[in-house]
Amino acid sequence: MVESLRIGCLYAGSCSSEQDAAYDWCAEAAGTAKRCSLTTVEPDAFDVLWWHRDDEFDPDELPADAVETLRSFVRSGGGLLLTLGAMGAVVPLGFEDVRPDESGWEEISEPTGPLWKALYEDHPVHDEFDTLTVHTRGPGVTVPYTRYEGMVPAQGDVLASTARAETNAVSELSTIAWHPGDGQVIGIGSAVSFLHPTHDICRRNRQTLVGNALRHLAEGERSPLLGRPKDAETLTLARERLADDRHRPSYHLTPPANWLNDPNGLIHWNGRYHVFYQYNPAGPFHNTIHWGHAVSDDLVHWEDEPVALTPSPDGPDRDGCWSGCAVDDDGTPTILYTGGRETLQLPCMATATDDSLRAWDKDPENPIIQEVPREPQVLSTEDWDGEFRDHCVWREDGTWYQLIGAGIEDGGGAALLYESDDLRDWEYRGPILTGDRDTAGTVWECPELLDFGEKQLLHISNYEDVVYFVGTYEDGQFDPHRRDKLDHGDFYAPQSMWLDDGRILTWGWLPEARDVSAQWDAGWSGTMSLPRELTLADDGGLCQRPAPELRALRGENLGHDVLRLDGERRPLDIDSQQFELRATVRLDDADALALSVLETPDREEYTPIRYARNSEITVDRSTASLDERATSATQRMRVTPYDSPLSLRVFVDGSVVEVFANERHCLTSRVYPTREDATGISLRAEGGRATVASLDVWELDGAWPRADADRVPPQ
Ligand code: FRU
Repeated sequence: MVESLRIGCLYAGSCSSEQDAAYDWCAEAAGTAKRCSLTTVEPDAFDVLWWHRDDEFDPDELPADAVETLRSFVRSGGGLLLTLGAMGAVVPLGFEDVRPDESGWEEISEPTGPLWKALYEDHPVHDEFDTLTVHTRGPGVTVPYTRYEGMVPAQGDVLASTARAETNAVSELSTIAWHPGDGQVIGIGSAVSFLHPTHDICRRNRQTLVGNALRHLAEGERSPLLGRPKDAETLTLARERLADDRHRPSYHLTPPANWLNDPNGLIHWNGRYHVFYQYNPAGPFHNTIHWGHAVSDDLVHWEDEPVALTPSPDGPDRDGCWSGCAVDDDGTPTILYTGGRETLQLPCMATATDDSLRAWDKDPENPIIQEVPREPQVLSTEDWDGEFRDHCVWREDGTWYQLIGAGIEDGGGAALLYESDDLRDWEYRGPILTGDRDTAGTVWECPELLDFGEKQLLHISNYEDVVYFVGTYEDGQFDPHRRDKLDHGDFYAPQSMWLDDGRILTWGWLPEARDVSAQWDAGWSGTMSLPRELTLADDGGLCQRPAPELRALRGENLGHDVLRLDGERRPLDIDSQQFELRATVRLDDADALALSVLETPDREEYTPIRYARNSEITVDRSTASLDERATSATQRMRVTPYDSPLSLRVFVDGSVVEVFANERHCLTSRVYPTREDATGISLRAEGGRATVASLDVWELDGAWPRADADRVPPQ
């Protein structure tokens, strides 16, 4: 496949034995390959250039002339393959701003190689492989590597991480594609060494991989850029690439691909609703956190925007731009977020450069709070010199207030209060509330204080649950009167948006409930809940309703008149995994009523939502999926006593089952049926009779624009 390619094999000075081994293989595979010195190479004589270098990259080896030659060769449409240490050349060549942050020699103790991203399954460099794991180096050797690990390339797209035997080393980013000017560069920073023999499979894979890369670069055909959100078109293509995944929600807010966690910076600005979120562009795992961005005109249809916030290699947010919020500072949209660097996490801020909220200027004074407070002493852990992060900011009578989540040494979680006149100089006031470690967790993340007039609500996320307290907030102290969970299932780190009409809408992160290998294979992880409108009822209880705007997604009502149920299962005449179901149910003399969703006709897979006489709703996932990588745990919540009719609203969307009971209690479950026909819905009463007094079912439309199938991929 590389036989007829004219390949220029580059070296500086003389060839090392590893280079000899690689270039000998190349000459054998492609008779027309030729070695050339970096200083004298004439690129136009070649279809593709390859620089394989087994030492750590030394910029002095790239003389200014060679830089110029290679740069203009690539920019004018040439292809360049950089393997092992040579990958470091992308920065001096001007193709990349962020240097690979890890390089050296490593002992390979098990078969190792690229762990390909599902998003790039069809990439030409992955041709002929039918698994994402590609072992290219066998054990027993010490070989050089160059990788991104704590940083991601700013211009490059990550095609693969690293697989070590069956272990996914997801954060070791090994294979990167760049597209400078009209040309392309592929970097494969590890596990492609040629010097020492390796077993057949690894050798074959290595040859296929390097051969594919050389051929792809020589052909000059570009595969669309999909990894890092860049523009609406490529983002839509990324969505399309993952669209066949039956577990992927279609009307919930999801990342275009890769990883999503907390909602951030929620703001209704200039007539548009903006949701930012914790995003890793490198793959479906938590690391190198950026801020992703989606925008909507109606809270129902969403569009992807390019990444809004990127860690600065020299900044206090080098290791991640963690959660934060957005405020209107007299007409300037401003965000406060947590910058992570080594063991410090400190508050940073940025202001939007225009009303699109696409680009943000980071404050030169970041971090704007320089150290964690001392009184009470903030908890230090293995990871952090002070668990101190996440921001809730508001203005009252001309003064800015800020809550930051923390843990207290020898205590529980806390929400710490600061005060400022200008959003920049902050004075510490102390905790507004501290938790009891046993019942409310050691660290409080993402605290948020919501004002409902006479009462206030404080919610915090304590690694397990989102706990809320309703009470009164006055003079820097929160006095809790009642407490519960905002959601009893897979729901975390919510944040709210204040609308012009006074409503408060809250979104939470719905984490995956399947193992990391399943997330890797899917190519994406995490979705948002539906926006929930929060209000306080007259009895002081919290009400949560799906935002009424969501009705715009409804198709025809496929509901029923009254249904009287007994022990016999009653399937509904509907097949769907994207729907809303609304029902009013009475248990009569039944012990329970089970509504099963995502059900196969033979009930090999189904997810029962069971409402029982003990006033409990459970979602039993033991039968939800045949995939052992999905959790089978049952989730439960208490609802109003059984003798009042229960109003149930259930939103099913791929792997999301979001349940609202009596517009008060929520339970969200992530489930992963494997069978295509897991689309049925059925009802059954257990131990007696039950009545469904009203039943509406609507199929719901998707929230994202679809790519035009005929469109040529963008260059
Ligand atoms: C909550 C959280 C926050 C942190 C962010 C990091 O899920 O851990 O405390 O800012 O996620 O992504």
